[in-house]
Amino acid sequence: MNILIIGSGGREHAFAWKLRQSSKLNQLFIAPGNAGTAGLGHNLAIDTTDFEAIKIAVLQNHIEMVIVGPEIPLVAGIHDFFLADELLKEIPVIGPDSYGARLEGSKEFAKEFMLRHNIPTARYFTVHAGNFEEGISFLKTLQAPYVLKADGLAAGKGVLIIDNLPEAIQSLKEMLDGLFGSASSTVVIEEFLSGVECSVFVLTDGTHYKILPEAKDYKRIGEGDTGLNTGGMGAISPVPFVTEQFMKKVEERMVLPTVNGLRKEGIAFKGFLFLGLMNCQGEPYLIEYNVRMGDPETEAVMMRIQSDLVDLFEGVAQGNLDEKNLVTDPRTAVTVVVVAGGYPGSFEKGHVISNLELVEESVVFHAGTRLAGEEILTNGGRVLAVSSIGNSMEEALSKSYRNIERISFEKMYFRSDLGFDLK
Ligand code: AMP
Ligand code: GLY
Repeated sequence: MNILIIGSGGREHAFAWKLRQSSKLNQLFIAPGNAGTAGLGHNLAIDTTDFEAIKIAVLQNHIEMVIVGPEIPLVAGIHDFFLADELLKEIPVIGPDSYGARLEGSKEFAKEFMLRHNIPTARYFTVHAGNFEEGISFLKTLQAPYVLKADGLAAGKGVLIIDNLPEAIQSLKEMLDGLFGSASSTVVIEEFLSGVECSVFVLTDGTHYKILPEAKDYKRIGEGDTGLNTGGMGAISPVPFVTEQFMKKVEERMVLPTVNGLRKEGIAFKGFLFLGLMNCQGEPYLIEYNVRMGDPETEAVMMRIQSDLVDLFEGVAQGNLDEKNLVTDPRTAVTVVVVAGGYPGSFEKGHVISNLELVEESVVFHAGTRLAGEEILTNGGRVLAVSSIGNSMEEALSKSYRNIERISFEKMYFRSDLGFDLK
């Protein structure tokens, strides 16, 4: 089978790496890909939302399945585009249509969905230009800190957590006035949940589902979870506090009602559901849905999946995921993200990355890299995701850290304390 992956980050490199292990894969294409994916397939210089160009590439290269990595093309309707096209409609797309993608694209839609299906989540109130005063009244019913969320996609920056009421009211006003552009013309105010977060991933064909290995990601730039939020500085799977008993609650209270709820509402959801949840003293609360895999969680999760990923995706496409087998490696996988100095603020691109060939016992997934002749150059804030598996978290981490010491590029930075909170 010829497969096209849409996206260019570590997640897409990890998909490419895992798909390459399948005997069912013939040719692999990645649009636009990076220097890492170039070693596993053909990179196509196409933007992820240029659907007309994607169509041409799909037809020219006899592509038989499309895996969509990031949320933006999903929310923009890539799956709908395929279904509406005579020449493309039989080609399976792994990822929901734009209606299903609203679970990620609109916080208000997601919260209403959770409420309709009795999924445990924080209390909330939706505010727009017309009901600002009611928003203030709701804020007054809550205890600090206050959680304000832009309804739409805001590149991971749309959530503010504010310590006192006057500032929360001020920020609510600024958000409605366009702090995050049109994404914050509607704002969801939420009760603050205190607990530990983790990411649960589900692959579904719309009826059946498989729960993939869970992971914990490290979002903050600084050690000890301090400083600005990033796209993710690393991930660990499995998560020690996610016991069988906890996962059973997640499955019964969240996964089943979500998959059944989507079906009942006529939303044909074929793809990944990513539940961002909070463990509040042993009880799971759903913070958010994403309609794709997490990055950098995918880099750790793919290392633990032993089954054939093409086979699982065929199950999604054909609606017989229940007949497929998901076998996972019980060992611990970690990924440590190496970023460009300055990230998530301003940073430089175009530095030469050296000594990748010295890496042993880890897989280096490329996040922001590009090829320039024989050289590999940095091409983003998150540059590499150095991933390893071990009998313990410590063993896996030490492999990744040992290899990071071998790699070099100007102003590279990484967190050396991953897993500090799980020991
Ligand atoms: P999101 O962009 O929805 O992933 O939210 C960003 C981060 O804000 C989450 O990863 C949580 O750490 C935090 N967060 C979101 N909602 C809540 C909440 N209701 N209570 C506490 N923290 C939250
Ligand atoms: N690592 C979190 C995300 O992909 O949204």
